[in-house]
Amino acid sequence: MNNYLKHTPVKILSKTWESPDTVTFKVDWQVQHDPGQFVNISIPGKGESPISFCSWNPDYCEFNVRVVGNVTEAISELEPGGTMHVRGPYGRGYPMRCFKGNHLLFIGGGCGVAPLKGIIEYVQHHREDFEGADLYFGYRSRDDILFKHLLDAWKSEFFLHVTIDRDAGEFQYSCPTGFVTEAIKHAQIDPNGKIVFLCGPPVMMDKTIPLLLEKGFHEDQLWVSAERHMKCCTGKCGHCMINGKYACKDGPVFRYDEIKGVTE
Ligand SMILES: Cc1cc2nc3c(=O)[nH]c(=O)nc-3n(C[C@H](O)[C@H](O)[C@H](O)COP(=O)(O)OP(=O)(O)OC[C@H]3O[C@@H](n4cnc5c(N)ncnc54)[C@H](O)[C@@H]3O)c2cc1C
Ligand code: FES
Repeated sequence: MNNYLKHTPVKILSKTWESPDTVTFKVDWQVQHDPGQFVNISIPGKGESPISFCSWNPDYCEFNVRVVGNVTEAISELEPGGTMHVRGPYGRGYPMRCFKGNHLLFIGGGCGVAPLKGIIEYVQHHREDFEGADLYFGYRSRDDILFKHLLDAWKSEFFLHVTIDRDAGEFQYSCPTGFVTEAIKHAQIDPNGKIVFLCGPPVMMDKTIPLLLEKGFHEDQLWVSAERHMKCCTGKCGHCMINGKYACKDGPVFRYDEIKGVTE
């Protein structure tokens, strides 16, 4: 079997339910990877799911899994002390070295915040390379907020703005109830020297990108992560094509001008 198709058994160190349907696994795996890359997590007899790295740490890896079907449900039933079977890392991540000296803008919606957390941790490990970072994260409800235990630390280091679609109530990190797109619309953001990372549901991306272009951003300042249905994850089956590119191999991270018009 080719090495890139081999499964690696990794020990599960901890498991944290972030929201009623989303769980984060920390695993004992020291693998070199770029933020934005992903693995395939395999459940014998059920199948495999592509899942992004949601951490950047030389000592361990974290994966955040939203339960949406059979495989993700079976993954969510794995327990600390047990074994997770992964293959990868796959795909092209964010070329972080190209962004040195820039100010970074993170815009995430729902479980799209998970891969962005991996970039944030990369920035925290290479703090001197970047001017700073602004985080705009939107969730459907307070229950859906991911990584609640990190919000204080993020707020102390970066500009943090959390939006909640409905019933935000009194919440120390949020603006009034509304979509993250509204927050972007009203934010005073100077595009000069900024790089934007966008990850979230297609509707969020489709609404946010025109707002950023109106504010004067150029398409080559915007980086998106494209989730496509994937099988092989190695550029062989053709399941994941976007604009003649393989989302699994040439992506999942793309500069917006490479795939514009097909974020859905
Ligand atoms: C590169 C990449 C990175 C990903 N990272 C994460 C992650 O970090 N965390 C996470 O929870 N999920 C992530 N996903 C999505 C995850 O792979 C799917 O949700 C999972 O494979 C669904 O498997 P299932 O058998 O549980 O559900 P299924 O029964 O296969 O699907 C349930 C529902 O989810 C939809 N769906 C399935 N796969 C995808 C997909 N790839 N894109 C969009 N919709 C899909 C189906 O159309 C269906 O409506 C990622 C996908 C890709 C391609
Ligand atoms: S998933 Fe097979 S080519 Fe991309």
